[in-house]
Amino acid sequence: MAIKTLEQLFIHELGDIYDAEHQFLEAQQKMHKQASSKTIVTMLEKHIGETEQQIKNLEQVFKALGEKAERVKCQGAAGLVSEGTKMLKETAENPELADFAMLGAMAKVENYEIPAYEGLITGAEKMKQKEVVRLLKENLKQEQQTAQKVAATLPQILEKAMSSEKSSSASA
Ligand SMILES: [Fe+2]
Repeated sequence: MAIKTLEQLFIHELGDIYDAEHQFLEAQQKMHKQASSKTIVTMLEKHIGETEQQIKNLEQVFKALGEKAERVKCQGAAGLVSEGTKMLKETAENPELADFAMLGAMAKVENYEIPAYEGLITGAEKMKQKEVVRLLKENLKQEQQTAQKVAATLPQILEKAMSSEKSSSASA
């Protein structure tokens, strides 16, 4: 269907992030099974809960606009998820390396979601949809906080991956 108005574009983008959140939810559940670092496990648990809430928030947004919540296949998310899944398979034999790869995948996901929400918020502000703005800002804030947490955790996980590499080459 051709998109002719800003509002139609907004609904399309909303369906896109709605689908992306579902895809990321599933991907996080898989990572949660494979993660070995306690920090990552805890982080994933928190963000899985948040993602479930974000999906509900998006359903509220659709409702506020009088639209049915519908997923629009998000190719960007699909690409990130398939790359992440491949990386997890390839690092499966080295848990420290897998943890590091997982954090990298999470960082990419959060930094994909952030501009998507920022764009939607700008659109909702233009449409003077206060409740929609509030709900979307809630999601954005969680993505930003997660991105910060991921970035802050990276050095520690990298350190572990590096020392596991040293000890495995020493024993080889
Ligand atoms: Fe997220």
